[in-house]
Amino acid sequence: MEYQNILLDNQDGVLVLTINREKAYNALNQATLAEMRHVFEKGADEVENLKGIIITGAGAKAFVAGADIKEFIGINEENGRALAQNGQDIFFLIERFHKPVIAAVNGFALGGGCELAMACHMRVAGEKAKFGQPEVNLGLIAGYGGTQRLTQLIGKAKSMELHLTGDMLKADEALSLGLVNYVVPQGEEVAKAKEIIEKIATKAPLAIAKAIACINAHYDETVDGFAYEIAQFQACTTTEDFKEGATAFIEKRKANFKGK
Ligand code: HXC
Repeated sequence: MEYQNILLDNQDGVLVLTINREKAYNALNQATLAEMRHVFEKGADEVENLKGIIITGAGAKAFVAGADIKEFIGINEENGRALAQNGQDIFFLIERFHKPVIAAVNGFALGGGCELAMACHMRVAGEKAKFGQPEVNLGLIAGYGGTQRLTQLIGKAKSMELHLTGDMLKADEALSLGLVNYVVPQGEEVAKAKEIIEKIATKAPLAIAKAIACINAHYDETVDGFAYEIAQFQACTTTEDFKEGATAFIEKRKANFKGK
């Protein structure tokens, strides 16, 4: 697939996905979403020795300022459901991806942009980043999972406040509420995210994938997360990497994991 709205940069197995619509504050139009779907369904797994994915926005102003409001004309009862469903499906692909996905939030993360950041496994914010769910200003509510994931991340009271007032959170507030993992000097978001992914890449890949799946299971009402954890733990015990990890510890050497 030819990508027109995103840039992909393979930095030694760390795939940096930049949403590249700077003039529109990287708003997510349908074409951009389709390209992101392709990356998470196919493109990323073609990257040799993929360590993880960083999602960021082009330019200094915005991570993603939301769904593209200019595409909202013509949205109605018939196609509104599909619009939200499509975005949610793509964001679930991100949340369930088997390698770490980190949002490097370099500016405004509003509406669908905040929702995109929250679908990632972690968030690193630049100190000028701002987060919000301002859809009520448009006569809408969040549709890409924002009411659910913001509540999961920061709790009901603050999630209510943000969704009902449309107010924005500054980076330091987002940090204190647990919405972001780190706040770094502006411009250093990708570097910090890369550092985290490089650290994770030294661990056993199958165990990483299972940890992601287990943590996601906590938020899946159809799954008993504790039982799921037991099953995934058991599955880890059958891997070569488990034998290697335990042996390396006893032999006081660094483990050489193979993802098997
Ligand atoms: C389309 C957008 C946009 C958006 C900004 N732009 N946000 N275009 N969709 N979501 C464009 C502007 O039209 C403008 O281009 C350029 O980016 C810069 O924006 P300005 O408003 O001139 O910049 P500034 O004054 O700095 O204000 C920045 C801002 C503001 C606070 C981020 O742009 C803003 O409030 N944007 C909308 C945020 C929002 O409501 N997001 C939620 C969308 S709904 P031009 O060419 O006009 O100069 C949503 C729902 C998801 O996300 C779920 C759907 C199912």
